[in-house]
Amino acid sequence: MASNNQITGKQNYHIGYKEDTLKAFELRNVTTCLGYLVPTLEALPPTFTLLDVGCGPGSITFDLARRFPQAKIIGVDLGQEVIERNNANIPLHAPGTGIEFRAGNILEPESLFSAEEIGGGFDVVHEHTTLICIPNNIEVLRMMKQLAKKDGGIVACREGDTHSQLLWPPCPESAELQERIYEMNGLDTQTGRKLLSKALEVGFRRDQITASASVLSNITAEERLPYAGSMITMLADENSQYRRAAAKFGYTEAQIEVLRKNMERMIEADDGWRLLICTEVICRLDGYS
Ligand SMILES: C[S@@+](CC[C@H](N)C(=O)[O-])C[C@H]1O[C@@H](n2cnc3c(N)ncnc32)[C@H](O)[C@@H]1O
Repeated sequence: MASNNQITGKQNYHIGYKEDTLKAFELRNVTTCLGYLVPTLEALPPTFTLLDVGCGPGSITFDLARRFPQAKIIGVDLGQEVIERNNANIPLHAPGTGIEFRAGNILEPESLFSAEEIGGGFDVVHEHTTLICIPNNIEVLRMMKQLAKKDGGIVACREGDTHSQLLWPPCPESAELQERIYEMNGLDTQTGRKLLSKALEVGFRRDQITASASVLSNITAEERLPYAGSMITMLADENSQYRRAAAKFGYTEAQIEVLRKNMERMIEADDGWRLLICTEVICRLDGYS
């Protein structure tokens, strides 16, 4: 089903930037999300340049800047408000580092980067769970390849796949609604499992790609609360994507209440967790493709 986004080429982000949602994303850091990429970054000269595409609230970006303080790290995101929030947080989270945040659409690079930056390219162009939020995300991956240095540049992606999600206590209504929201927005819910195919499709050779997989998890009470809490906030907001999708697909108020209760159970249950398989690729350009 083609969404408005696909027809107009105009981008928007279906999850939004409510504070609760940003707090849930802020659980992420280099240790929990970028284990696959750290050895590669450590092997680069310390002044490397890195682009974080769709950085969101920037907890991964800030952590990268703290670990690699001599590197030039640029986080870009469609959300003007989230970028303003990140820039205000630099003195708090990564003072004295080479971090910077810019607002704009990655598919319009001239609005984000200077001609020199586009011409010279970045050492590393990275994204974490951004492709799955963008319709026709193959174009984003193609753009990431274009923005990496032609010889020696690296494109690194870690992606989710909504079908790979496990929740306990069980919450089948949540998984079903989430699928429908992604589909309603023209998003590829199987981006994770297709990541390697997509990398080949944009022109990387298989011998340029290192592929791996790991699990994104919300296990401790501190991790479950922001995840389930942000769902509860979205369910309480009649204008949220969750509520709009629920209305569109004929969910009754009683079903919404079941969903809300399930999320409350997830917060309270000592045996509760949410696990999501993530696929990972590191693609190295070598000047020949
Ligand atoms: C699921 S969030 C991931 C945030 C962050 N990478 C993380 O893992 O914590 C996806 C982000 O991609 C951004 N985004 C979506 N479309 C974009 C586009 N066309 N250009 C730049 N950023 C985009 C959204 O605004 C959102 O903040």
